[in-house]
Amino acid sequence: MSVSRRNFLQGSAALAAAQQTARPAASDRITLGFIGAGARGHDLIQVVQKHPRAEIVAVCDAYKGRVERALDRTGNRAKVYKTHADLLADKSIDAVVVATPDHLHKQIVIDAVRAGKDVYCEKPLTYRSAEGLEIAKAAKAKERIVQVGSQGVSSDIGIKAREYIQAGKIGKVTLIRAEYNRNSASGAWIYPIPPDASPETVNWEMFLGQAPKRPFSLERFFRWRCFQDYSGGIATDLFVHLCTTVHFLMNAKVPGRVMAMGELYRWTKDRDVPDTLNAILEYPEGFAASLSSTFNNELSAEGSFQILGTEGSLTIGGGGLMLHPDNSREDNRWIVESWSKNLEDAYYRDPKVIETEVEAGKRPRREPERIPTDPAEATMLHFGHFFDSIRSRQPYWEDALAGHHAAACAHMVNKSARERRMVEWDFAKDDIRG
Ligand SMILES: NC(=O)c1ccc[n+]([C@@H]2O[C@H](COP(=O)([O-])OP(=O)(O)OC[C@H]3O[C@@H](n4cnc5c(N)ncnc54)[C@H](O)[C@@H]3O)[C@@H](O)[C@H]2O)c1
Repeated sequence: MSVSRRNFLQGSAALAAAQQTARPAASDRITLGFIGAGARGHDLIQVVQKHPRAEIVAVCDAYKGRVERALDRTGNRAKVYKTHADLLADKSIDAVVVATPDHLHKQIVIDAVRAGKDVYCEKPLTYRSAEGLEIAKAAKAKERIVQVGSQGVSSDIGIKAREYIQAGKIGKVTLIRAEYNRNSASGAWIYPIPPDASPETVNWEMFLGQAPKRPFSLERFFRWRCFQDYSGGIATDLFVHLCTTVHFLMNAKVPGRVMAMGELYRWTKDRDVPDTLNAILEYPEGFAASLSSTFNNELSAEGSFQILGTEGSLTIGGGGLMLHPDNSREDNRWIVESWSKNLEDAYYRDPKVIETEVEAGKRPRREPERIPTDPAEATMLHFGHFFDSIRSRQPYWEDALAGHHAAACAHMVNKSARERRMVEWDFAKDDIRG
């Protein structure tokens, strides 16, 4: 599905207008249930609470402390359900936010659309690549909106960068470098475990879902990203954001070939996923993306992009979008200086050389410029798009298929690193080959 500039402006303008007008009557507000109210879930609860168009009416989580905090945050207005199935049976709920660990997304999203709910599912949409098409099929069959939560594609930075690239302002883009680094225990997902967590307050079976049966473990429950049973590590946690943005910027669907290597260098205790990962993704649209992440250094901690075109580059990082015009020109001085003097002199009398080398060298350099962008919070804008879609029944750009393709990149990266070989996409099957 293509997204026009108009779609974006409508989304943002609708939000801005909504924020200026009075809160709609309760009967007009979208009623939302939260399935998974952990760290991200609570972020999202706070974003939604600032949004005039929705109301959080229900919550379900596998740890008591987080349910209690959700009740605090909603002034006890949210109804608590024990399981996601119970929550989905509540007919008064229009849509659900799924913010559970990744291995649970597929089943919950499919159950939700079958129960008639629209879904905002946190990234990555899938834990395994094949789940993506299953979700897309189920959503289509029930005509439900599924929007995936890589919110960067709703940010003004993402939208402006896309406009610049699509308008050809940096020429032909053939390489994108993107990275995400961290250098702390929490950055490496070694989160503190709440002191009241125990088999009495944590529902272990609910967390496991279809994952392999294992003895109760608070490390696994609260630090699930460190374990392949529930997560694809750096690829599904961070690269999926990078790939979503790359696809959005470049109007690309999915890479044809992927090579990757990952290693666990430092955070070796209680973890079976790498802490350093590098990948190259080649796209049939005619460009490559090079993705990199380490948990052993903090340069580019917020995530950064270099989008390299023949006429210039765009960089995203440090909260801003920069345009770096390309000042390169032909310059063969060091070659022709090794020729005989009369051949060198003749070279510089050639009108073409005068134009492309001599005169071009006198032109002033074009300096980098910051592109002004609206700092409005990306997740807030992303929810604005979701609420627009619920009303209009038109999905925003990041629908189930976009989520499938972005998550599939992460699965290709992990497969390549694990199997030490290049992994290919089967375009007919719309899934990983082999
Ligand atoms: N878009 C972003 O920028 C962003 C940022 C952080 C996390 N995320 C995504 O959000 C999701 C949640 O991550 P998190 O950091 O909040 O993890 P978390 O562990 O803090 O929260 C997950 C919550 O799900 C609950 N849960 C487990 N099994 C459940 C079940 N069967 N039913 C209902 N609840 C269940 C847990 O009790 C926990 O509170 C992940 O998919 C993650 O990738 C997205």
